[in-house]
Amino acid sequence: MSDAASTAAYGDLYRRSLSDPEGFWRDAAADIDWVTPPERILDDDNPPFYRWYPDAVLNVCHNAVDRHVEAGRGEQPAIHYDSPVTGSKRTITYAELLEQVRAVAGGLKGLGVEQGDRVVIYLPMVPEAAVAMLACARIGAVHSVVFGGFAPQELAARIDDATPRVVISASCGVEPSRVVPYKPFLDEAIKRSDHKPEHCVILQREQLRAELGERDLDWGELVTGAAARAGADCVPVASTDPLYILYTSGTTGKPKGIYRDSGGYAVALRWSMDNLYDVQPGETMFTASDVGWVVGHSYIVYGPLLLGATTVLYEGKPVGTPDAGAFWRVIEEYGVVSCFTAPTAFRAIKKEDAKAERLRDYDLSRFRTLYLAGERLDPDTYEWATDVLGVPVVDNWWQTETGWPVACNPKGIELLPIKPGSPTLPVCGYDVRILDGAGEQVPAGTEGAICIRLPMPPGTLPTLWHDDERYVSSYLSAYPGYYLTGDGGYVDHDGYLFVMGRTDDVLNVAGHRLSTGAIEAALAGHEAVAECAVVGVSDELKGQVPRALVVLKSGIDATAEGDRIRAELVTRVRGEVGAVAALRQVDIVAGLPKTRSGKILRKTMREIADGKTPAVPATIEDVSVLDALGPVLRGS
Ligand code: COA
Ligand code: AMP
Repeated sequence: MSDAASTAAYGDLYRRSLSDPEGFWRDAAADIDWVTPPERILDDDNPPFYRWYPDAVLNVCHNAVDRHVEAGRGEQPAIHYDSPVTGSKRTITYAELLEQVRAVAGGLKGLGVEQGDRVVIYLPMVPEAAVAMLACARIGAVHSVVFGGFAPQELAARIDDATPRVVISASCGVEPSRVVPYKPFLDEAIKRSDHKPEHCVILQREQLRAELGERDLDWGELVTGAAARAGADCVPVASTDPLYILYTSGTTGKPKGIYRDSGGYAVALRWSMDNLYDVQPGETMFTASDVGWVVGHSYIVYGPLLLGATTVLYEGKPVGTPDAGAFWRVIEEYGVVSCFTAPTAFRAIKKEDAKAERLRDYDLSRFRTLYLAGERLDPDTYEWATDVLGVPVVDNWWQTETGWPVACNPKGIELLPIKPGSPTLPVCGYDVRILDGAGEQVPAGTEGAICIRLPMPPGTLPTLWHDDERYVSSYLSAYPGYYLTGDGGYVDHDGYLFVMGRTDDVLNVAGHRLSTGAIEAALAGHEAVAECAVVGVSDELKGQVPRALVVLKSGIDATAEGDRIRAELVTRVRGEVGAVAALRQVDIVAGLPKTRSGKILRKTMREIADGKTPAVPATIEDVSVLDALGPVLRGS
């Protein structure tokens, strides 16, 4: 993207990051403590596989915790846990965090967890989640955090792929409307999975205590036992060793295990904290997401802690806990300088308090920037947030795979002019190109597939867990030499990127990435369903919500049985995928439109449901099926 860098300070840096990536990332690596510093910066001997800092050795937990204590930050808060849903708050200093992480790391070792072993973490937004992640990093174990809103089947799929020695979970999560029992979900998941973990460590919460079984151990016992008292020191690991696996949704029902390396990720996140998120050591960042998502991994846990900043771990919602002033309270109370959340959270606040009257109750004088990501930032939400807050609102575009922003206004370097609807310019290290179907770069203003020229910068996925082949076929084979993001969009004449949405069937519900395949598999498992399709349709609050179209098996009377079947299907998706899928609408239809080769035309249906008039693909098998669906999709 040649003209992507017209502004001096940022432009010079960006150009250097592409013309001299090794020099650029060698300099950035100086902000990390290495056991063995990198001599070689990029291993590009085996394209399309690239490795950053291939000869270096470090420990990420040391960088996120120990070194700050050694540097005199022991008394500084590392984590402010703020939980309006349970009415509790707790501040953990860096010294306390070190003590807790050492103990849990020791406890895990006592359970037999060794370097390279996997530990699945299925926890709500409690500080123990961050402690468990760091404890794994400390002993070179690989964590895989599973979002608490996922149901047993999704958890089972992850357990089978990651094959953990230990699972760390809790008795329950606390949502505003209900207490969610986690332990029965975990038990059910283990029943369904082929792989059986040796131990499950359960954090007992007072809202609902769980009954412990044979393989279970109370978190309290883990952290007070002899192994925990002995503690564990940081284990040096190769920069290319995995820090974590984070599963993300593709189009099929089988989640993709994103492999995150240690050294490249530490360097990239540390670099992003001041350069993109404009946070300095000692300052406070509040990322309102969940540790189960990549945003939580990078900007609730690792990013702020690698910098020596303070992070807020918030167990609540933007509204209803107790009201639309919740975020403003947190920002004031902890002196937050940067807040990061999804646009949907701001749409929820706006819906409840359109004039932002709650803001008057709080002093936000230390607050400098709002960052929004996870889904498209619609201009209305952008304008509203800018008007009410009076600070820059920075759209940033990235994905689980990249681990940190691909496009973002680099506010810590300089604030570039904002264009609503655009996450601004590509971030240093990312050579973003828009390609057409033939792999040619399209002119400015023309939409195409958003791709990134290889090699991508440090921090991005080097492969998928145990599956190089799927890594190549999913991301690299469409356009050799490029990573396919799965998003479509264009670049304007100033080099600004505009992301228009997924080109595949991945859903994005309230900033949560979900698989159409997983929801369809849940629907297809119902005895009355012959065929089904799920499409993501526009929703004012959540950006997108799933809509299901099902064809019943012959002989089933839709008029008599329809209501029961629809209700059962909604319940089924909740039980198999999770409440977070938010499936509310199921339509029983006579047939689904397909191409002659049998591919269901989901995109065409989605566009019709969104009020558009898409061109009917020439390969359609029977256009009358699509015509018959029109009124159903349009809701007329
Ligand atoms: N554990 C168990 N259940 C969970 C859960 C968790 N960690 N997180 C969500 N759920 C459940 C909710 O209780 C809800 O269940 P319900 O249908 O019984 O009410 C369902 O999953 C949907 O949750 P959510 O997506 O949070 O929707 P909501 O209607 O409760 O709230 C918003 C809407 C906009 C307020 C909410 O989505 C939000 O705050 N979004 C912020 C965006 C965000 O964090 N994105 C992450 C990526 S940056
Ligand atoms: P996830 O992997 O869960 O972080 O989801 C990544 C996907 O969310 C991207 O591929 C986009 O489709 C969407 N997304 C994330 N951030 C943005 C953004 N700022 N603008 C538009 N879409 C976004």
